[in-house]
Amino acid sequence: MEQTQVERKKRLFSGIQPTGTLTLGNYIGALRNFKLLEDQYDCLFSVVDLHALTVRQDPAQLRKNCLKVMSLFLAVGLDPDKSLIYFQSHVSGHAELGWILDCITYMGELSRMTQFKDKSARHADNINAGLFTYPSLMAADILLYQSDMVPIGADQKQHLELARNLAERFNSVYGETFVVPDGYFPKVGARIMSLQEPTRKMSKSDPEDTYIALLDEPNIIRKKLRRAQTDCDNSVVFDPENKPGISNLMSIFSAVTGKNMDEITAEYDGRGYGAFKDAVADAVIAELEPIQARYAKISADKAYLAEVMTKNAERANALAQRTLLKVRRKVGLAALKL
Ligand code: TRP
Repeated sequence: MEQTQVERKKRLFSGIQPTGTLTLGNYIGALRNFKLLEDQYDCLFSVVDLHALTVRQDPAQLRKNCLKVMSLFLAVGLDPDKSLIYFQSHVSGHAELGWILDCITYMGELSRMTQFKDKSARHADNINAGLFTYPSLMAADILLYQSDMVPIGADQKQHLELARNLAERFNSVYGETFVVPDGYFPKVGARIMSLQEPTRKMSKSDPEDTYIALLDEPNIIRKKLRRAQTDCDNSVVFDPENKPGISNLMSIFSAVTGKNMDEITAEYDGRGYGAFKDAVADAVIAELEPIQARYAKISADKAYLAEVMTKNAERANALAQRTLLKVRRKVGLAALKL
């Protein structure tokens, strides 16, 4: 009898580290797109708490941050009945596959990772083995679910390349096992820069006045935008090279209003930076307020969060076990038959 093949949606995996505060940059560059990707792909969005341990964390703070990221995932509108929204540490397969991948990852490959070099320079007193093997754990996150697609920023390209190499290496040594994932890069222009040093990416690890946190109150958002670094020629024209500050504000405005650069110039040029900054603040506040309101509700509802966490961890675990079973058999780990 012929079986009708139901076409499987492509699978998409992304992880966000629960360290620091999520910013407007994370929202425009990642979270907001996740919402759009949810319909097209079979999605997993993970709070990658094991990765966070590569840098020394305050345990209570880490726990809080994990719940915060989960609540924000839900507050931006991701649907936990459709997508898998869960904590990495709740599915032990991540660590297990991470170990197996460690054993086919070369020291040389890991030593070349620019993020490792950067982070070891920044945390010179804690260059631990986890920081070194961070990329193979990230590869495990992706490969564990046979993910086709991984939305990432440019800074994670090298890590994704390693995940692809490890998938191919494993497949060639042990036979077809893993899907080789592709990167999904948000379109250029969605890259939001620091408000004080607009040639650097907006980052939650920089000082407070350089970024807008998703949960910043409206008056703080307005204050930070008013103080954003701009040049002094007072023309609202998109020119990232010569006018990085105003161009960044235009990117933000464009991202939240949908207006293009020409429309923004036509509307605001000649009215002074002050007026434009206020318009940007109004638009950002209007975009974030409903998210903040939902966040307040969700984060207060511990029973709901617990239910989402448990159900999704179970579903993710079931998927992970399918891959792990195969992997264990292929590498020669004996099956435990009771
Ligand atoms: N390394 C990623 C970051 O810092 C987070 C991450 C961990 C991730 N595992 C992942 C991203 C898997 C995509 C897929 O941004």
